[in-house]
Formats: sequence, structure tokens, C-alpha cells
Amino acid sequence: MRIAWATDIHLNFLQQKKREAFFDSISACNADAVFITGDIAEAPILKIHLEEMVSSVQKPIYFVLGNHDYYYGSISSVRSETLDYCEPHNNLNYLRGNKIIGLTKNTALVGHDGWGDGRLGSWEQTPVRLNDFRLIDELKDLEYRQLIDKLRELGDEAAVSIHGILAQALDAHEHVIFLTHVPPFKESCWYEGKVGNDDWLPFFTCKAVGDTLYQLMQNRPGSKLTVFCGHTHHEGIAKILPNLRVFTGSADYGAPHVQDVLEVD
Ligand SMILES: [Fe+2]
Ligand SMILES: [Fe+2]
Repeated sequence: MRIAWATDIHLNFLQQKKREAFFDSISACNADAVFITGDIAEAPILKIHLEEMVSSVQKPIYFVLGNHDYYYGSISSVRSETLDYCEPHNNLNYLRGNKIIGLTKNTALVGHDGWGDGRLGSWEQTPVRLNDFRLIDELKDLEYRQLIDKLRELGDEAAVSIHGILAQALDAHEHVIFLTHVPPFKESCWYEGKVGNDDWLPFFTCKAVGDTLYQLMQNRPGSKLTVFCGHTHHEGIAKILPNLRVFTGSADYGAPHVQDVLEVD
């Protein structure tokens, strides 16, 4: 099975012609399916861009959402509206820790957005403040300490959602692929070929998800987990355990690209 993977495509930064050219570049991969690891657009136009992409590519698209997909909207309503929207579309699959997709005989797919959960690095000292904190309903108007608590809650929700379903997928398949937006480990939080520093780590890693993945894979040396993520816009590969690798994809606003074409058996 061939899969085209792209991340942080931020379609709202593109005119229609450029969006079409990007969709054509996906089609040119002759892949059987597409993975998108979040930051597809922004809340008010997310569904329009999903519709445009699926009707152009005409392949199953498996995706998670990123923080930008909630801009000018709310996390809870974008999530439930996106699930509802995908329901009748056979080729649009929003992964929310809610299902296991059998890709091949040996390989299954699970996904969840994740969230930068404020735990790694130094949330107390960092001067970094993301646009998330003023453009997403659940995060705006919070005092900084309340905001950190909310980020932790979002990370915990991701970890709890994926734990059972990942264990189930790993019990039934030799290899599981996990799609998420936010790098789950410090080692996977790439910036210009290095690990991001303590100012950026709080909002660019999801420790709660990382801890869950680590614990699951440490106890399953016979299984393999491959993670695909984005969010930092800088690429790299992190080998966390002999059976756990994380691929982080690169991105430039206004110039989305296919990060890789994966061969899955
Ligand atoms: Fe992004
Ligand atoms: Fe992001």
C-alpha cells in the first residue's frame, strides 16, 4: 500500500489555483491513501477545504486536526462538526482515538490531534504566547495559570482517548501507525535540525500522549509503532525505543508539499 503524507498544509493561505496544484501533486503520487497530520485550514473554512481536497484527490484521506484548525472557532464544536461532516463521506476519515483502521494485513492506523500540553520545557519562564491563546474559544480570556491547566486537560484527554484503542490495535497487528499533530516527545520536537528549546517545548510537545506511547511500547517489544506528526514545521526522525519511531514533517506557509510517500505492508 502506498500512502502520501503531508502535514501543516494551511490551505487558507493559498489561492484556489495553488490549492488545486497541491491536490494535483498528491494525485501524482499514485498513492492508495493520504495522511494529513493537522493544520489543514482554520475553523470557518475547514469543511470547504476538506470537501475541495477529497473531491479533487478521490482517495481515502485519514487526518487529524491541528491547533490552527480551531482558529476563530471552538475546539469542541469543530471536533464534533468535523466528525459529523465526515460521517457520510467514505473517503474522509477524521481520527479522534475513536476507531482502528485496518490498512493492510499487518498494519493498522489510529490517530488523535494531541495538544501542546505545557508540561515539557519551562511554561513558567517562557515568553512564548501562541495565537491559539487569543483565537480559540476555550483558550481565550484565560489567566496564564488557568490556560496551562486547560492545555494539560487537553493533553490528558488525548492520552486517555488513545490508550485503550492503541492497546487494542497493537494486540491485533504487528505494526500500528499513529497520526497526531503535536510531537509527543522532546526528541521529536525538531527545529532547524535540533530539539526545540525550553521556551517552545511547552506548546510544541504533548507529554501526556508521549508517556502513553512509551509505556505501551516498552511493554510490547514484539510490536512496532510508527508516529507521524507536524506542528513545528521542521522535519526530523526520532528513535524513541527500538520499536517506536516518530517522523515529524516540515511545512512552509503558502507552499504545502507531500512530505513523503510511504510503502506500508
Ligand atoms: Fe502548522
Ligand atoms: Fe500546529
